Amino acid sequence: MAHQQQDSHEHHHHHHDHGDHGDHEHGHGEPATHDDWLKYWEQGEDDWEHSIVDQFLIKYLDRLTAGNKRATILVPLCGTSVDIKWLCEQGYKVVGVELAEAAAKLFFTKYKLEYKVTTADNGLTVYEGFNGNLKYVVGDFFVFNKDMYGTFDCLWDLNSFDPINKDDKQRYVDHCHSLLKPNGPILLGSYIFDDHYCGPMPVTLDTIQSLYGNKFTVEHLELTDITMVMRDTIKDVEWKPNKIEETVFIMTRKN
Ligand SMILES: C[S@@+](CC[C@H](N)C(=O)[O-])C[C@H]1O[C@@H](n2cnc3c(N)ncnc32)[C@H](O)[C@@H]1O
Repeated sequence: MAHQQQDSHEHHHHHHDHGDHGDHEHGHGEPATHDDWLKYWEQGEDDWEHSIVDQFLIKYLDRLTAGNKRATILVPLCGTSVDIKWLCEQGYKVVGVELAEAAAKLFFTKYKLEYKVTTADNGLTVYEGFNGNLKYVVGDFFVFNKDMYGTFDCLWDLNSFDPINKDDKQRYVDHCHSLLKPNGPILLGSYIFDDHYCGPMPVTLDTIQSLYGNKFTVEHLELTDITMVMRDTIKDVEWKPNKIEETVFIMTRKN
């Protein structure tokens, strides 16, 4: 079912790819390039109605922040995630990093948030909201580094590890590590559609352990059916997965 839809709705491939089932004619399994993502956002629409804050972010927020109400939180590959708005409303200082400027504009307009556009010393464009408590950085996550805002107390990763190309995964993990303070945790959530993992690698405990295990202690928190919560937030009328699950991990820097 999802297989046919894959071909006729190329844009899904990037946002919530249905997994490498091996029987697609084209496009499937090929890494998403920066251009693919920029085009996806320039269409000006998003497949998801990001109206619901991730329930596991809410549930595990105290573990993520270690109860520190002033924690700084990094959100890589943030898209138009409502989570960053919610975290700012809770009083945290949040930095989101996203390749597509179109996504930045969409984020601020869809939530009717005031912003000002600045340019950082390294040349990256930064959209600032919530009186500077939100810095939405436009650029490649691998170019963003601790010279910009130092290191962070913790990191929220929702469907960001997942779409990273296979060959870049370890680099992504190491880069996240370099942006965290000692003992800083990562909370990671990843969607599974109709039993299929989305990105180029299944987000299982084995995968997570092998990529994060050297530098982090890994704990699998849960694998939960979120169909009832999420299904109706998909705007596409032709793509309705029967089952959506979220798998959730917490990783803590060993040093
Ligand atoms: C699957 S979406 C997830 C968005 C968001 N985390 C959410 O839950 O809605 C992945 C996002 O990462 C962005 N992206 C992909 N590669 C990137 C990179 N190297 N640096 C920064 N952003 C990137 C894409 O433009 C896209 O918005």
